[in-house]
Amino acid sequence: MKGIVLAGGKGSRLFPLTKVTNKHLLPVYDRPMIYYPIQTLIDAGIRDIMIVTGGNSAGDFLQLLANGKDFGLVRLHYTYQEGEGGIADALRLGEHFAEGDSICVILGDNIVEKSIQHAVEDFERQGGGAKILLKEVEDAERFGVAELRDGKVIGIEEKPKEPKSNYAVTGIYFYDPTVFDKIKTLKPSNRGELEITDVNNAYIAEGRLTYSVLDGWWTDAGTFPSLLRAAKYVEQSRPEYEED
Ligand code: G1P
Repeated sequence: MKGIVLAGGKGSRLFPLTKVTNKHLLPVYDRPMIYYPIQTLIDAGIRDIMIVTGGNSAGDFLQLLANGKDFGLVRLHYTYQEGEGGIADALRLGEHFAEGDSICVILGDNIVEKSIQHAVEDFERQGGGAKILLKEVEDAERFGVAELRDGKVIGIEEKPKEPKSNYAVTGIYFYDPTVFDKIKTLKPSNRGELEITDVNNAYIAEGRLTYSVLDGWWTDAGTFPSLLRAAKYVEQSRPEYEED
């Protein structure tokens, strides 16, 4: 399985912090944000990794990450997203990298406490389709939200005003190679983007999407409150952490 980290976008919810740099280069406690999703992939045994970025600071990713030495890698792959077409548009650029392999996609602002290795293994056994990871949250309306029935996800709504459950769809997704054909059929949403939620709903329509509930804490870091929360979670998970 190959890994793709999506690190493009304008980061407009973090303006002016993102006026001159990419959101995923901002600090989360003691590391740049993008270090966390890369480490999550590596901890799950995925070492063939591509970073998708865009905007004016794309070169800074090369300077920061180089060939992945800080992570014990000998190479990293990079690609450039022109414009801000959304998460699914960024993922589209991974087709040549995937070369028919299955992929684990992680959003560059998603930070998790525990290993996702179990989910990787489950998806490998699943033999195709897609898998998403859910997490129970109190502010589900900020996310893609899963509607569950009889142990299955029967639909996902992107940022619904009235969420049908408390289960947010986290930014960690597993796909078989048919994902790229699905992306080609998508139409831009109301916010003018190709939505990853539409990709997931296409798998649901085929009856080929499974889910697990993520273990440990999870947060995005794309808003001021969540960026601060991410830093606090990371601080508390450091071995030297002691509360006063
Ligand atoms: C994106 C997805 C959403 C998902 C979230 C996880 O939202 O569209 O479905 O729940 O990431 O972080 P965005 O951060 O682009 O608003």
